Formats: sequence, structure tokens, C-alpha cells
Amino acid sequence: MSTVHRCVRRASMAMLILAAVGAAACARDEWQQPDRVVADMNLRDGSVVADVGCGRGYFVARLAKAVGKTGTVWAEDVSEGALKGVKQAVEKQGLANVKVVQGEATDTHLPDGALDAALFVNVYHHVPQEHRAGLTADVARALKPGGYVFLVDWRLDAKVRWDKDCRIPKDNLIAMMAKAGLALDAEFLYLPHQVFLRFRKPAAAE
Ligand SMILES: C[S@@+](CC[C@H](N)C(=O)[O-])C[C@H]1O[C@@H](n2cnc3c(N)ncnc32)[C@H](O)[C@@H]1O
Repeated sequence: MSTVHRCVRRASMAMLILAAVGAAACARDEWQQPDRVVADMNLRDGSVVADVGCGRGYFVARLAKAVGKTGTVWAEDVSEGALKGVKQAVEKQGLANVKVVQGEATDTHLPDGALDAALFVNVYHHVPQEHRAGLTADVARALKPGGYVFLVDWRLDAKVRWDKDCRIPKDNLIAMMAKAGLALDAEFLYLPHQVFLRFRKPAAAE
């Protein structure tokens, strides 16, 4: 094969891979409805929010837009590899209001009482059972009084092929949050495959 043919073949492969990655993101947008999820978090200019278990940062830029230049997004995960990609994307997009932080299983390394809201999307079923209560308590610590946790995770009957053996019943998620002092106060019903729950930390006087 000539050098020219080899280059054309490599370029075609690269384009195919890029197209596949782009298509996967678009397909997720359809069922994940990220803009609607973020809109329902009621973030304002200046809000402080954590994307706990942010993975490769699917929600990060949307959250950064929602909190504006005076707000802060903490993009947190235990995976160094995932955060490397997030850091690159944040720099490339010039998202000056995003702070990337690597946590540990039950310690997010987020500051005390700093968050208006924390978002978990498809995280808890990846957290080993023995670490779930510790992680939840740690996020409760990092919330302001009156702050919210938004929890999105697979429904047991989700019609997708992933994570069939580790989905968590909604009642277990609610009980787990309650143990950390976070009370269920809203449920959003429009996501086709996931539960979407809002929990609130009591305000200081409550
Ligand atoms: C399926 S990914 C979801 C990523 C992202 N939230 C999203 O919706 O695209 C689950 C993520 O949870 C992270 N994770 C697992 N255990 C964690 C923990 N104890 N604290 C923080 N993140 C954790 C994993 O590293 C992984 O990036």
C-alpha cells in the first residue's frame, strides 16, 4: 500500500471514530435530556454546584453555563483518567468557573458547607455498597444548609443494555439519602430510563 493510500485510510478511520463518538453523545442527549435536567436544578448566577462522579464531564459545560462567571462548578471524580479528559476540555473551552477535584471513595475533597447543589448522574450503581453511605454523608457535609442533591440513576426497568445487574431500587436510594439527613422533596418523571430525585439538606433553623 502506498504512503498516500495509508494516510487516506488512517484519516478515514479517524473520521469514522469521531463520527461514532459524536453519534453516541447525540444518542445520549435524546434520553438524558441534559438541558432540561440542568434547568430543573434552578441554578443561578453565582451558584456553587458539584458534579459528583462527573466522569468525562458530560454535564460540566452545561453546569458552567448555568452558574455564570461568578459561580463555581466542582467537577469531581475518583478516576484520574476521567478527570484528565475533563481538565483538557475545560481548558480548551476556557471554562474559568470550573474546578476539577479528584476525590476518594468516601471523601470528595469538596469544601465544607460550600455547595448550593450536588448532581449525581449514573454514579451510585458504580459505587461499591460499602462506600455509598460514606460518600453520601460526605456530600451532605459539603452542602450549604438548605442545599440540594439531584440524583439521576437507572430505573430497575430501564430499557437500555447497560448495568442490568447493579441497578439500585429507588426506595434504597431514598433511604440512603435519608440516613445522611437528606429528605426527598421532589421527583421529576420525564426521563425514560432513569429516576430523577431531588433531596434537601435542612436549613440551619429547621
Ligand atoms: C457511569 S459514570 C457517570 C459519569 C457522569 N456522571 C455521566 O453522567 O456521564 C460513573 C462515574 O462515577 C465515578 N465514581 C465511582 N465511584 C465514585 C466515588 N466514590 N466518588 C466519586 N465518583 C465515583 C466513576 O469513576 C465514573 O466516572
